[in-house]
Amino acid sequence: MSVMYIQGGVPLEGEWQVQGAKNSVLPILAGCLLTREPVAIANCPRLSDVEAAVDILHHLGARCTWEGDTLVVDAAGACGTSIDEGRMRAMRSSIIFLGPLAARMGEATLTYPGGCELGPRPIDLHLAALREMGCRVEEADGLITCMGKPRGGVVSLAFPSVGATENAMLCAVGARGDTTIVNAAREPEIVQLQEFLNLLGGKVWGAGGSVITIQGGHQLHGGHISILGDRIVAATLLSGVAAAGGEVQVQGVDWRHLSTVLQLFEQAGCRVRSGTRSIWFRRRRDTPMRAAPPIRTAPYPGFPTDAQAPVMAAFATARGTTIFQETIFSRRFGHVPGLRAMGADISLHGGGAWVRGVSGLHGAQVTATDLRGGGALAVAALSAQGETQLSGLEHIDRGYERLEEMFGRLGAQIQRR
Ligand code: EPZ
Repeated sequence: MSVMYIQGGVPLEGEWQVQGAKNSVLPILAGCLLTREPVAIANCPRLSDVEAAVDILHHLGARCTWEGDTLVVDAAGACGTSIDEGRMRAMRSSIIFLGPLAARMGEATLTYPGGCELGPRPIDLHLAALREMGCRVEEADGLITCMGKPRGGVVSLAFPSVGATENAMLCAVGARGDTTIVNAAREPEIVQLQEFLNLLGGKVWGAGGSVITIQGGHQLHGGHISILGDRIVAATLLSGVAAAGGEVQVQGVDWRHLSTVLQLFEQAGCRVRSGTRSIWFRRRRDTPMRAAPPIRTAPYPGFPTDAQAPVMAAFATARGTTIFQETIFSRRFGHVPGLRAMGADISLHGGGAWVRGVSGLHGAQVTATDLRGGGALAVAALSAQGETQLSGLEHIDRGYERLEEMFGRLGAQIQRR
């Protein structure tokens, strides 16, 4: 297994174009099943989760070919209706194939999805949504079977689940009648999924708000979409600059998609200037960050749970104590032991983490246990004195395309061997 070797204490300087968003491209890949014409997905990040989605599409009979950073999906030949446990467990997003399979094939047989260890990751809201649209969904012996084409209906989500909203949208586009999703997730990736479905000839509106309406029964054609910039990768990059000090220009991401993160760093004394598609960010090395007011993760447009870990790593050396309240997942502090091994002073109380700033961190041998926790350990290593050896890179590669190249291009001494 490869290891990332990071020599900390080097300020980050320069410019970086952020990759396409993992959490936008994954539902769009599943949505390609809804049309028999080719779909071109530009700015598609090369990630192990994308490879897992491509593997599922191939397994179902679709063809996927890379043309530079554009992935072309042709699902004309898709005929499969079942996804085996190995493929389902490869990532959380495998469950997002349920809706499109029900819509196109009228049947689906899946097992339970995998994904990062963040606490329980139920799919009850996904299954309830499809039942609401008229599908017969059964769970028995570890199998999920879904029978019958969706007719549409009113899907009221008990929680604004990102995945359940996406599954319901993808299923509803192929339903005979209309569907309304109430208490829908409002993330930018949901807005891009609506953009994608409409450019294929669907009739979807309301994404970005809590009520999304889908007119079913439209035959979808092919199209071309460019994936929006990954706001969590951008937040991780800026956390690295906040931790190590320096000045960078981040291209290709809408600052509004991470405004809560930017506001927090400004409160901590970092300088931020936002353009339409770029962010200028500076933290002077001779001016440590100040602690920030308590941070509470929440569904978009609240503070993103995915940014909690990398941002916490940056605040490990701020002056004062910063409190992180994680409200979305019950076990999303897997990065805390690694940060403590590097000298961070963090105590956990229930769903909260008290981060008392220390004067500096030191290198250590640490292991990532989930995707964003891995990003956090890399961020901490950038500010630590000495060398950090970071393993568990299979978690990092799920969502960060070439993390070592991103920080290395900005001056970090970071190598994967
Ligand atoms: C998506 O996961 C993202 N993944 C996650 O990013 C992100 O952390 C999460 O949304 C929240 O923003 C992708 O988009 C591929 P949820 P998802 O359904 O859809 C509960 C990353 O690091 N819930 O919004 O799985 C659930 O347990 C990943 O890129 C149910 O109870 O998240 C959790 O507490 C990690 N029943 C809460 O809702 C359900 O049926 C939010 O989950 C579904 C979810």
